[in-house]
Amino acid sequence: MRLSVIGCGYLGAVHAAAMAGLGHTVVGVDVDEAKIAALSQARAPFFEPGLPEVLASAMASGRLSFTTDFSAVAGAEVHFVAVGTPQSAGSDAADLRFVDAAFASLLEHVSPGDVIVGKSTVPVGTAARLAQLVAGRVPGATLAWNPEFLREGFAVQDTVSPDRLVYGVPSGEEGVRAARILDEVYASAVAAGTPVIVTDYATAELVKVAANAFLATKISFINAMAEIAEATGADVTQLADAIGHDARIGRRFLNAGVGFGGGCLPKDIRAFSARARELGRGESVRFLEEVDKINLRRRDRVVDLVREETGGLHGVRVAVLGLAFKPHSDDIRDSPALDIAVRLAEGGAIVTATDPEAIPNARRRAPHLTYTDTAADAVADADIVVLITEWPEFTNLDPHTLGHLVTHKTIIDGRNALNPDAWRTAGWKFRGLGR
Ligand code: UGA
Repeated sequence: MRLSVIGCGYLGAVHAAAMAGLGHTVVGVDVDEAKIAALSQARAPFFEPGLPEVLASAMASGRLSFTTDFSAVAGAEVHFVAVGTPQSAGSDAADLRFVDAAFASLLEHVSPGDVIVGKSTVPVGTAARLAQLVAGRVPGATLAWNPEFLREGFAVQDTVSPDRLVYGVPSGEEGVRAARILDEVYASAVAAGTPVIVTDYATAELVKVAANAFLATKISFINAMAEIAEATGADVTQLADAIGHDARIGRRFLNAGVGFGGGCLPKDIRAFSARARELGRGESVRFLEEVDKINLRRRDRVVDLVREETGGLHGVRVAVLGLAFKPHSDDIRDSPALDIAVRLAEGGAIVTATDPEAIPNARRRAPHLTYTDTAADAVADADIVVLITEWPEFTNLDPHTLGHLVTHKTIIDGRNALNPDAWRTAGWKFRGLGR
């Protein structure tokens, strides 16, 4: 099939490359010339495991191209819109500027019979509004909403083999046809037995935010238990293991630590709350405000622990291990690690930070911090070491070797990713979160 993908960020670039890898002919469009220049040379503009390989082979096949020229979408039968919906400046609501701009440009080149597929995470009600716009501008074209559930770090795998497909389509024959066309786009996943949920626009939009709200709640639940554990001497990691054995609860996403960050969970729960308030249902999701607060309190806790261990931040040498919001990513959007590093520096600490992939992005956002390429350099002469992003490079560090490099053997494990006994045996003062 001939597809277009509007927006070539984390979502769109992976979608375009993965769809071309599946045999479709794909053109990716973005207004960012630097991004398009990189992608056109089969270079991924961000770190995502597996993406460079998929990009290279799709480009070599001749089925994948990238451009800033919207007219290139003419001739495609299906147009995916995968632009960002960041948090608005000064409010919790999602900023739909990029979605609206993408639709305005796209509709200039869409033909009757084409299917436009929204993939961006939007406030419920957006698809119905856009469907009216499409009907007015290109009668005979159809809008579908097909939310994306990919995780950074596993984006290619999640795109090619999703755990479910959700199609929000209009009612009647038009919707049946749109669902059939989406089944063709995702033919390999459908043939492999991936569950397909065909529903209305509002449900499809809500599935996405509800899923992220649930995941965020699960993380804040265990972090709330960590706070209780800290007050009682209990161990939140053992608690998570024990309750996680109940299949109804499950162990995944029950890792206590500095909490969630990234370009999705934090802004999605805030946008969901804002939209619920607009709908007069703010009360229904008021708990998400608490989820957000618990999450942010964990960052305060790490800063407090450093202060507690060093007797004040001023002039203290802190080694920060990790800057990305999670391992296997160079994404620093709403990253707990970068936030904590910046706050320690603001408090007067001398911060040296490292990360296998996120230093260039972190340096742009926080040029005043000192960055080093290796953990060994970061911890040299440190008064305290703080692990915040659980890259294997850091969780596999040898406490004996590291012990020779630091001034004081004190470590805070912000992700409960280290073995406390191993570090204590090697002479370290070890502090975890909630244990
Ligand atoms: C998240 C969702 O998991 C995806 O399903 C969704 O498609 C995506 O948002 C999106 O909306 O686009 P992602 O942001 O890539 O994916 O990251 P996650 O793996 O969900 O991790 C989010 C944050 O939670 C990270 O900072 C991670 O360190 C933290 N986390 C995760 C915990 O603190 N504890 C856990 O047990 C798990």
